[in-house]
Order: sequence, then structure tokens, then C-alpha cells
Amino acid sequence: MNLFKNIEKKWIQDIQVGEQLDDFFRIVEINKKLKRDGAPFLTLVLMDKTGRMPGKVWDNVEKYIPLLQEGEIYRVTGLVSEYKGQKEIRVDRLNTPPNGSVINPEDYTEEAAFDTDSLFDKMTSLVKSHLSEPHLIQLVDLFASEYKNSFQNHYGAQKIHHAYLGGLLEHTHSIIRLAIQIAEHYNLDKNVLVTGALFHDVGKMFEFTSVPAVGTTLEGGLLGHLIIGYNLFTRLTNSIPGFPVELAVMVQHLIISHHGEKEFGSPEIPKTREAYALHIIDLLDSKMKIFEQIIDGADKNQLFSDYIPVLERRIYIPNGE
Ligand SMILES: [Fe+2]
Ligand SMILES: [Fe+2]
Repeated sequence: MNLFKNIEKKWIQDIQVGEQLDDFFRIVEINKKLKRDGAPFLTLVLMDKTGRMPGKVWDNVEKYIPLLQEGEIYRVTGLVSEYKGQKEIRVDRLNTPPNGSVINPEDYTEEAAFDTDSLFDKMTSLVKSHLSEPHLIQLVDLFASEYKNSFQNHYGAQKIHHAYLGGLLEHTHSIIRLAIQIAEHYNLDKNVLVTGALFHDVGKMFEFTSVPAVGTTLEGGLLGHLIIGYNLFTRLTNSIPGFPVELAVMVQHLIISHHGEKEFGSPEIPKTREAYALHIIDLLDSKMKIFEQIIDGADKNQLFSDYIPVLERRIYIPNGE
């Protein structure tokens, strides 16, 4: 029997604090934590096409752990409460959908918050308008023809900054715009810096999955996105007849050094002005995004955020009282 036949789906964006929920959601994140008394509890992230919402499971945790898998759809029952100014579900029951349940997978597929298709085209035209080397223009076209779809539909990171659909595109577009200005300001080699900006994080497409859940791939865990990106870039340049070897090496250096330090996963530290600039721009863009995300999600009654480990500080919340 389908218990849900006549019940209208409640979308995450419409859910209000105080509501009793009994509906299907995709669970995209499951973390086991310990209460003060040492007993386990779970923090979850529920998702449907309208957004995400955190949840907590306080009871029967050991029973649920073997049954739950990130990325699957579950019937979730519980009360919506408020935690730190955000709605959150306190889960009473979790079950796999009953037989005969009508579930439309598209209702549980995340959509980007902006038109990724046109932003990708805008980004590649911007890049090409600042390149003077014809092999690089060919390279950008080749990249677009092979990777447009997966690049524009990827997360920018698994967690923390740009961790949403279209995030990789948004971050890369931002880095490119900064790179153009920095190259002009310091008279840097725009061919190298702008191409490096476009390719610096392409390895993320294969470093982790974002659908149905975010998770590290074998390649991602063992090689990381710098080396995956280096391989992708090298394969494309090798397929372009006469691609200048020195130019390829200059851009390869930007890709593999953009994390700045060996302890942050760069096999080489930045040794050219363009590589150093890319590293600083990349760092700036990720930190600015973290500030923005924390301020957007903050309880506006607080003057300062909680301690943010990645920023190593509490930050000021504008409009706080
Ligand atoms: Fe990176
Ligand atoms: Fe980046």
C-alpha cells in the first residue's frame, strides 16, 4: 500500500519550524558523533531539489547506522526545530521507502542556483578574449567540447567553500576575472596566468563525486586534483599539434603549485610570478567565499560567529545587534 499517494510532497524550502514531517528526502551526509555521556548520535544533511536541511538522530542510533547509506532516499519522520537560527529536523524514525512508493528521482536531484550553461560560455569567451597564443585558444575550445557538461555541473569543493552544484564553475570564473586584473596590474604573462586560472581546479571533476552524494574517488584520494588536473591538461595539449613545450610547462607549473606549499599538497611551491599570483588569488577567493557563506547563514542576532576553524577566528556578523 502506498501511504503517500494522496499526500503532497513538502519541499525543504517551504518547511517551517514547529512542523511535524513525514516525507521522503535524500540523505546526502551522515556523520556519527558522541554526546557528552559518550553515547552516539547522528548528524544528517537532508536534500531535495529545493535545498538542504540539517537533521539529528538522538535515539536508536546503533540500529540505524548499518541501514543508512549516503546518497539514498529515505522516509524521514520527525519534528522541525530551530538550532542556531536555522531549521533542523529532530528525526524520530528513518525507513527505506515502502514498496509502491512513487518517487520521482528529479525531485531529489540538486539544481544549480544559476544558469551554469550561459556562465560556462561567458567564462570561456572571456578567457579566449584575453589569449593571444593560438594554441591556447584551440586548447580552450577542446576543453569546452569535452568537459563543458561535467565542469559546469560539479561542486567547487566537498565541504567548506563553493560546496554546491556549479561551485567549481563559479569559483573558476571568479579566479579568471581576478587573474586578468592582476596580470594587467603587474604586467604578468596573461596567456600563462589566465590559462592556469581556467585549468587550476579541473582535476576536481574526478577528485570527488557530487551526485548522488559527495565522496572522494579512488583517483582523488590517491592522486588529488592537482595531479589529476595536470594529467588532463597534458593530455589535451599533447593532442594539439605543435603546442609549444615551454608554454605547456609554464601552465603545468601553475596547476601543480597552486596550493602554495608542499604540506598543502603542492609537489612544487610557486616559482614564477604567475604561479605565485594564482596561488594568492585562489586563497583569497576561497576565504572570501567562506566569509560570505558564514555571514549569510548566521544568526543575525549574534555580533560574532562561533569559532571557524578554517579561518582560525570568530568573524563579525554585519547587522548583528
Ligand atoms: Fe585547488
Ligand atoms: Fe581553486
